[in-house]
Amino acid sequence: MKKVLIVYWSSSGNTETMAKQVAKGAEEEGAEVILKTVGEVSPEMVKEAEALAFGSPAMGDEVLEEDEMEPFIAKLSKAELGGKSLGLFGSYDWGDGQWMRDWVIRMKGLEAKVDGEGIIARLEPDEAALGECYELGKRLAK
Ligand SMILES: Cc1cc2nc3c(=O)[nH]c(=O)nc-3n(C[C@H](O)[C@H](O)[C@H](O)COP(=O)(O)O)c2cc1C
Repeated sequence: MKKVLIVYWSSSGNTETMAKQVAKGAEEEGAEVILKTVGEVSPEMVKEAEALAFGSPAMGDEVLEEDEMEPFIAKLSKAELGGKSLGLFGSYDWGDGQWMRDWVIRMKGLEAKVDGEGIIARLEPDEAALGECYELGKRLAK
């Protein structure tokens, strides 16, 4: 059974809804899914997982959430991420997805196998975004 770790930060619940859909897809594909908010996760847990998904809304000025998600991501290295499938997702509002483009490049720099271009949803995720999250979960479980 593949071990998939899903880590997210969410304040008004939009990114959390996406995280739950990723979890659903992975579970229905038969993975062992660990779904956690970022405050509950250590780099060691990332190292133990076989596939990963990280979620953060666009915050600040087109950056990751700064108090918890940014410090968590900054601690990671090739030791935890190298060669692993990684899905990125998150909600935004007024921007154009720049935070996600930057995040994808950053994670590729640590040799993660980033799934596509990341999944972004404007505010509350619509059916299409939820479907993408579900399919991401299925891919991560394979
Ligand atoms: C302090 C703050 C900063 C934000 N900065 C951005 C931003 O730079 N770009 C953007 O598109 N949306 C920005 N947003 C909007 C959030 O990304 C959006 O409300 C998102 O749906 C929140 O996701 P959540 O429900 O998972 O917390 C910001 C929201 C807040 C509260």
